[in-house]
Amino acid sequence: MGSLQGKRALITGAGGAIGRAAALLFAREGAKVAAVDIALDAAEAAVAEINAMEGRAWAIPADVADEASAERAVARAAELMGGVDILFNNAGIMPHEDRSFEDAEAAQWDRILGVNLRGTVHFSKYATPHILAAGGGAIVNMSSFLAVLGCSYPQDAYTASKGAIAALTRSMAVQLGPHGVRVNALAPGPILTAHVEKFFPDEEARRIRLARYPLGRFGSTTDVAELACFLASERSAWITGQVIVLDGGASCNYL
Ligand SMILES: NC(=O)c1ccc[n+]([C@@H]2O[C@H](COP(=O)([O-])OP(=O)(O)OC[C@H]3O[C@@H](n4cnc5c(N)ncnc54)[C@H](O)[C@@H]3O)[C@@H](O)[C@H]2O)c1
Repeated sequence: MGSLQGKRALITGAGGAIGRAAALLFAREGAKVAAVDIALDAAEAAVAEINAMEGRAWAIPADVADEASAERAVARAAELMGGVDILFNNAGIMPHEDRSFEDAEAAQWDRILGVNLRGTVHFSKYATPHILAAGGGAIVNMSSFLAVLGCSYPQDAYTASKGAIAALTRSMAVQLGPHGVRVNALAPGPILTAHVEKFFPDEEARRIRLARYPLGRFGSTTDVAELACFLASERSAWITGQVIVLDGGASCNYL
């Protein structure tokens, strides 16, 4: 039996690289999946893959930054799946224009905090009553290893948003733990998605960066999906309030 057998999982950003890998893995592990994304076609593609392997999934459009849109999406997900046990707050943006606090533009900060941080708050706010009604469950948030490390190529709004998600994760865990809801966060290093590949245009750029990585490679979407699945499942029943770094060892390697 899969580790998420009979569970009902809502995943935001499920049309993206990591979200899609998680949606497929959660479904393989037995969960029904509500695949939420602002890009409906991308969510539909993930859903088609799940349904082709005889899973059960539905695509739901939403802008996570918009509270009313989030409220509607959660209600729809609960209606389609018959409830919610698991929320994976995965949707996030990392715009290239986001650099140092020194040249920060207010609109850019508002946009990044709106999607990454407020999006997490909105979905948690509306999904929590459903998870409580189900008798408990799990919320997995998406932080980043940049929440625990500075970076010489700054992305300050993104980094701040992910640090706030780490802090929010601990606060939510304390509030929801007594009610049977565990809340943890993933803090991945670079995962080789189209997004991140742009930062490493050639072999030399990759080689320089990978010199820091004891495991000698970037992460994969499967690496992240596996940890999300573990934290969503009862296999991690005594883990809450944790921000778990998965980065091939980069953050423990002082050069
Ligand atoms: N890729 C990495 O190296 C890496 C590392 C650490 C953390 N992360 C985090 O993992 C998450 C997923 O990243 P990814 O690499 O799969 O990126 P991605 O761009 O492939 O996927 C993000 C998905 O979120 C959706 N999205 C964006 N804005 C949205 C909004 N307002 N409302 C609803 N959906 C929206 C996009 O349409 C996309 O499908 C993000 O939170 C990202 O910050 C990624």
